[in-house]
Amino acid sequence: MSEKEHKVSRRQFLTYTLTGVGGFMAAGMLMPMARFALDPALEAGAESDFVRVASLDELTEEPQRFDFVVEQEDGWYSSEVTRVAWIYLANNEVVALSPVCTHLGCTVNWEGSESYPENFFCPCHGGRFERDGTNIQGTPPTRPLDVYEVQVEGDDVYLGGTVQR
Ligand code: FES
Repeated sequence: MSEKEHKVSRRQFLTYTLTGVGGFMAAGMLMPMARFALDPALEAGAESDFVRVASLDELTEEPQRFDFVVEQEDGWYSSEVTRVAWIYLANNEVVALSPVCTHLGCTVNWEGSESYPENFFCPCHGGRFERDGTNIQGTPPTRPLDVYEVQVEGDDVYLGGTVQR
């Protein structure tokens, strides 16, 4: 190869140098901003904390409403939020259902309508669910109620996040 083929013009040298330095400076400015914006969203495990909600001897085969408080991290803001679960025993297993209607998010109540005993009833548009949370065909909700993750330790019942079925 001749020496001429390796020659870089002044214009090319300036272009390469300025592009490299500019890219380096842009990355230096953008990386902290990206990390600042995404870090809380990527933090693992915030939703998987379990909270003691009830003791086993409080539970019956009839769904009962339990209100409980969880610490919620929303970005950089931490607050206490009250959650609700309908909890009952089915074959000695603890079942905890979310009260959030899967149609448009209103709150369902066990036997919330005298016309539909043995159902969860949503007052907003008449949605209904079976005792196990299965949506009843012909009513607005198109999927079952979400279930809470349940842990039982001794006599204590702990609930975690909700899971779609
Ligand atoms: S929000 Fe429950 S039926 Fe519409």
